[in-house]
Amino acid sequence: MMEPSEDPGLFEIISTTRAMRRLKPDPVPDALIVRILQAGLCAPSGGNAQAWRFLVIKDAEIKTRVQAFYQRAFDEKVGPAYAVNPPPPGVSPEQHRRQHAAVAHLTRHFHEAPVWIVACLIHGRARPNRGSGASIYPAVQNMLLAARALGLGATLTSRHLLYEREAEEALGLPEGVHSYAILPIGYPMGRFGPVRRAPLTQVTYLDRWEESYPAAG
Ligand SMILES: Cc1cc2nc3c(=O)[nH]c(=O)nc-3n(C[C@H](O)[C@H](O)[C@H](O)COP(=O)(O)O)c2cc1C
Repeated sequence: MMEPSEDPGLFEIISTTRAMRRLKPDPVPDALIVRILQAGLCAPSGGNAQAWRFLVIKDAEIKTRVQAFYQRAFDEKVGPAYAVNPPPPGVSPEQHRRQHAAVAHLTRHFHEAPVWIVACLIHGRARPNRGSGASIYPAVQNMLLAARALGLGATLTSRHLLYEREAEEALGLPEGVHSYAILPIGYPMGRFGPVRRAPLTQVTYLDRWEESYPAAG
C-alpha cells in the first residue's frame, strides 16, 4: 500500500511519517525488514562508531513479556497523564483524544505487531550522554521513514524504559547494552496522512533568540 500517491517523494514521505499505532497482525516479509534495517545503517553516529545493534523480535513470548511492562507503565503513568495534559502544539482537543485512543490501542496490542525492531546501543563502561541518543535516533528515524516508504506502519516507542531493567531483561540484552526504542512494525489498518505540528514561525528564529525568521511564513 502506497498512499497518498503510488511513488511518494522524500518530502512527502517525511511529512506523512506519523505514528501508526493500529497494525494488522499479518506477517511482514523479511526482505522488507532487511530494507528497513539497511536504511537504519545509513544513519550517522558519533565518530561513525556504529555502536548500534538492532534486535529483530518475532518471538511472541518475548513480546508478550515486554508488553506487560509497557501496559503497566501506561496504566500507572501515561494513561493518567493523558487525561489531564493539554493537547500538544498544533493538535486540536479532538485530535488529542483520538491520539490517546490510538496510544491505548497500541498498548493493548503491542505484542501483536508481527515484528519489532529494538534499537540498542552498546554503552560499555561509558556513561550515556547527549551523543548516545544522537548516535541511535537518526537510525531510528531512517527506519521509520523506510517503513513508511514501504507501506508499513511503525511507531517510535520508548515507554518500556519506565521499567527499563525488567524490560531489558525480558529482551535478553547483555550487560552494557541498552535499548533506546522499540519499533512495532506491521501493515497499517488506517491510512497514512500528514503529521500535525505547530507552525514553523512559532519555533524558528533569525540571528537572535525569539526574533522572527520572516522566511518561515
Ligand atoms: C522519545 C520518544 C518516545 C516515544 N514513545 C512512545 C511510546 O512509548 N508510545 C507511543 O505510542 N508513542 C511514542 N512516541 C511517539 C510520539 O508520541 C509521537 O511521535 C508524537 O505523538 C507525534 O506523533 P505523530 O508523528 O503521529 O504526529 C515517542 C516518540 C518519541 C520521540
